[in-house]
Amino acid sequence: MKYFATTGKASSRAVDCTIVGVYTRGKLGLGAANIDAASNGQLRKLIKSGDISGELGQCTILRQVNGVKAARIAVAGLGKSGSLDAAGFRKAVAAAAKALANTKTQQILNALTIEPVKDCSPYYLARHSVEAINDSLYRFEQMKSGRKKSPMPLKTIGHAIAKSGDAAQAARGAEHGDAISNGVALAKDLGNLPPNVCTPSYLARTAKKLASGNGKLSTQILNEAEMKRLGMAALLSVTAGAVEPGKLIIMKYKNAGSARPYVLVGKGVTFDSGGISLKPGAGMDEMKFDMCGAACVFGTMAAVSRMKLPINLNIIVPAVENMPSGTATRPGDIIKSMSGQTIEVLNTDAEGRLILCDALTYSRRYKPAAIIDVATLTGACVVALSHHRCAIYANNDDLQNQLFAAGGSSEDAGWPMPMGEQYAAQLKSNFADMANIGGAGGGSVTAACFLGKYTDGMNWAHLDIAGVAWKSGGQKGATGRPVSLLSEYLLSSAGALP
Ligand code: BES
Ligand code: MN
Ligand code: ZN
Repeated sequence: MKYFATTGKASSRAVDCTIVGVYTRGKLGLGAANIDAASNGQLRKLIKSGDISGELGQCTILRQVNGVKAARIAVAGLGKSGSLDAAGFRKAVAAAAKALANTKTQQILNALTIEPVKDCSPYYLARHSVEAINDSLYRFEQMKSGRKKSPMPLKTIGHAIAKSGDAAQAARGAEHGDAISNGVALAKDLGNLPPNVCTPSYLARTAKKLASGNGKLSTQILNEAEMKRLGMAALLSVTAGAVEPGKLIIMKYKNAGSARPYVLVGKGVTFDSGGISLKPGAGMDEMKFDMCGAACVFGTMAAVSRMKLPINLNIIVPAVENMPSGTATRPGDIIKSMSGQTIEVLNTDAEGRLILCDALTYSRRYKPAAIIDVATLTGACVVALSHHRCAIYANNDDLQNQLFAAGGSSEDAGWPMPMGEQYAAQLKSNFADMANIGGAGGGSVTAACFLGKYTDGMNWAHLDIAGVAWKSGGQKGATGRPVSLLSEYLLSSAGALP
């Protein structure tokens, strides 16, 4: 994709489509006012006749408007004047991209980026624009046979800016938006792939491919024998019933000398049947998405390396299948984690924490500046926060606040959640150092507390993304969240935001 920024008028650029906006009650946005003036009041007439709506999420495509150089005008609804925020802005841009999806549009000029949007600089407007357009153009059709519908063949996105001094910011925003969208698309692809294709070995190959030909990236894959030698019995207890071999996938991005690395750990359960504590059949296919934490850290790695952020970043993906069989772990089994702490496995379906605890222990060797694990960890998290926000846990307020702030400005938000001794006490076992489940109540919190027993002394956070990583129903598919949130956090930590 190519990007440009322009101070030119919406009516005067010869592109395939210019996006402008109107608010409710007939108020024209800046670009729309220009189009209206150039076309002898065309827009106002169409608003009056009800053909153009100012409601957020609506979009009307006009062709061959008199006095306007663009072949099409997409008129997006912007909602109530004076209340447009980043979420609304993205919704409006996405509606325009969706309305254009079946056209042959190759160049877009998005004139919405000069509208006043709450807390959004030209940098964020360009970035949100690119992320929203790419997000709505995403298709997953690689498993379908026959001829595939090709989405709009978009090649160029331009952004309107108010003054030439904003050009550098808009260019940066577009560049970062492009890199983040690319990471989001990778995360969606990995999530959407079926579990017979996207196995632990497939994820390992994906890591190698991502690193190949990039001097700043390296990959290391540990097999089950190597993990056994390291004492990772908690991780191995999850893969014990599976035929597919488990892998520990490590990628390193080095672009800051000897600085302490940021470490992202992604839950990579490529299929979670529950194991011997077998899940009910309905909807079990969706447990192919149980590797979306892994997909997210790969996507974030792809984004960070494209943005060439001046940081060191390691990602660790414990990748396994959780399957029932004669060799599978039983409820009641006691295993010894790499940390030395013993765990009574009371439910083999609480497997995410078992692979994460050993990956977290392994990560200590990196002396992380911060370590964040990302996991579709608990159904209870969906009960608590639904599909809107992920849960943010941390063992210190600074990191929790940073991740909360990053969610807000990336439109991929989380919400801070509590931890503490009262919750941790629910994990008590009569036979081992801890149980792997915390009983009734606070399931997402007690899962976080379990991980907290393996992160002493590290600057650690945990994102429970069970509610946000994919959509069910007619729109079933991975969302690529929270690649944006983590990219924003790392951009901010790297001091790379304008
Ligand atoms: N992968 C699931 C969590 C999950 C369930 C995410 C549904 C999204 C939708 C996880 O491994 C799991 O099975 N957790 C159990 C934990 C319980 C046994 C303590 C759960 O949430 O039911
Ligand atoms: Mn499970
Ligand atoms: Zn799981």
